[in-house]
Amino acid sequence: MNYEGFKVQVLSLTDIDLNCYKENQMKRRIDALIKKHGCNGYETFLQLIKKDRKALEEFVTYLTINVTEFFRNPSQWDILEKHIIPLLTQKKSTIKIWSAACSTGDEPYSLAMTLANLMPLVNFQITATDLDKEVLEKAKAGVYSERNLVNLPVEFKEKYMTLQNSNYVVKSELKQRITFKQHNLLKDPYPSGMDLIVCRNVLIYFTEEAKKGIYSNFNKALVDEGILFVGSTEQIIMCQEYGFEPNKIFFYQKKKVVIAISLSCK
Ligand SMILES: C[S@@+](CC[C@H](N)C(=O)[O-])C[C@H]1O[C@@H](n2cnc3c(N)ncnc32)[C@H](O)[C@@H]1O
Repeated sequence: MNYEGFKVQVLSLTDIDLNCYKENQMKRRIDALIKKHGCNGYETFLQLIKKDRKALEEFVTYLTINVTEFFRNPSQWDILEKHIIPLLTQKKSTIKIWSAACSTGDEPYSLAMTLANLMPLVNFQITATDLDKEVLEKAKAGVYSERNLVNLPVEFKEKYMTLQNSNYVVKSELKQRITFKQHNLLKDPYPSGMDLIVCRNVLIYFTEEAKKGIYSNFNKALVDEGILFVGSTEQIIMCQEYGFEPNKIFFYQKKKVVIAISLSCK
């Protein structure tokens, strides 16, 4: 079996369309995993993941690359706090946020802490999604080792986490502001009415074609003048084509739709 045939089988088995991911990178990763399992090619590896649930879950997790941490790239979070949130709350007090491809939850909890520091908890609601069910379970549990928390300000750690058996657990009042759901950016319907979408360090794995569709979908999911926050290697070239204006670096604002009405008087 060649890679083309493998992609078809993976799609039916996992719902992951490898055609939308950059090929060289994915192939390299898959080949390494096949080797690790001692399989001699796509065919035997497929047989393994078809009969062994654990191996299948490991494959999905490995494929989707879950690396994350609290306040990843701190300077961008600074801009979010000092410029973007005040911009969004200029005209409304309650905001809706989507943390897309949230991995183990470090990003949505970083968002919740930032917002909780600026406004009452009831004034924001975060939807956090990922393709991988396994990471979502970890995110819901909200249990983290010190390693994930290197960029987390001490005052946030003290205020929003409790120490249990040498791990830090997110307090329930913060957890309640976040709804975790499975969502495939390449396939599922997008939510609507978002003031802020945070989607970082996943678009880098997708083909240009797949990214175009995602940018347009993000634009539709945002309210007028809503903001898209991307990762530090994910600047959007020609963002105007998807209905965005650059705001601060790594932040894009949805252009307001102006409806021109022409009145003709006789
Ligand atoms: C590198 S992590 C980024 C986590 C977090 N956003 C950050 O910047 O720290 C990439 C995440 O994207 C998720 N992912 C990959 N493909 C996806 C897809 N098609 N739809 C939704 N999530 C996807 C993976 O499961 C993984 O958790």
